[in-house]
Amino acid sequence: MEKKNLDWENMGFSYIQTDKRYVANYKDGKWDDGALIDDPNIVMNECAGVLQYAQTVFEGMKAYTTEDGHIVTFRPDLNASRMVDSAKRLEMPPFPEDRFVDAVAQVVKANAAYVPPYGSGATLYIRPYMFGINPVIGVKPADEYQFRIFATPVGPYFKGGAKPITICVSDFDRAAPHGTGHIKAGLNYAMSLHAIVTAHANGFDENMYLDSATRTKVEETGGANFIFVTKDNKVVTPHSNTILPSITRRSIMYVAEHYLGLEVEERDVYFDEVKDFAECGLCGTAAVISPVGKIVNHGEEICFPSGMEKMGPVTQKLYDTLTGIQMGHIEAPEGWIKVIE
Ligand code: PLP
Ligand code: COI
Repeated sequence: MEKKNLDWENMGFSYIQTDKRYVANYKDGKWDDGALIDDPNIVMNECAGVLQYAQTVFEGMKAYTTEDGHIVTFRPDLNASRMVDSAKRLEMPPFPEDRFVDAVAQVVKANAAYVPPYGSGATLYIRPYMFGINPVIGVKPADEYQFRIFATPVGPYFKGGAKPITICVSDFDRAAPHGTGHIKAGLNYAMSLHAIVTAHANGFDENMYLDSATRTKVEETGGANFIFVTKDNKVVTPHSNTILPSITRRSIMYVAEHYLGLEVEERDVYFDEVKDFAECGLCGTAAVISPVGKIVNHGEEICFPSGMEKMGPVTQKLYDTLTGIQMGHIEAPEGWIKVIE
């Protein structure tokens, strides 16, 4: 199959329309068979539940070209089950997990010409999502839903790729205790837009959100979880019921312990102790592992010993091992890699 003529090496993280997308509709209490379609546009009623009350959840995952030329996805079963959790929290009918995994494969296969070549630094980003589509004017869940998946080739989420970024502690909160911070709902991202525009205007790449109950503990950023490395090489990640359970973070913690023999801890991380860590990184599907060089809290700077030029040594090992597994040159744990073709 011939690849599209795209500038794979210089891609940003932005939308490029691809050929095929998947759509399934939920009506009268059941999902229809679903199909691949060509039209990237959606026509819906002006009063659709998603438009009025933001009843929408989504996922983010990637397809990779491996060193030996296969196209693979990474732990799609975990995206499928997280989307079920998200849907339930917003009173939406879950899309069956086996059908989710199969639909992802269909979309990747149908857009194989857009899967960036091995070694280009780009990947195919896959966006499953679902939303309430029938008219809803009283505040209640919709009765009809659409589940869709599109794919778009992307480069690094942060300009500069693996160069350390500078983030600030946000004055805004991301998620309330007992709220929706642990699911992937569009509403969590809508509320972060003002915070990220403010951070960018102040010269920062991202926000660090603290827990909104006490504002003493590290939560996550708008689109990634945190990992920290202690001066004695322990990998630490915040535990919280109000952050998204990142699949990348769960994989990194496994890799740290079982591939690299490092000690790992998932626990409360107080902002006061952040200055004592040796390395800091953001992890997620889009972020992969993006090193953080500096954190600014109202003018007070925390500069990690790993500096602003390159990743710290432990972060680099984690990055190499994780991406090595995704790109097929390090053997993956059972079930992590799904070969598409
Ligand atoms: N946290 C937030 C708020 C996110 O949007 C994402 C991206 O999906 C993550 C964390 C990372 O999750 P994952 O590694 O499953 O992509
Ligand atoms: C992802 O990593 O898939 C996300 O959804 C994060 C988003 C900020 C792009």
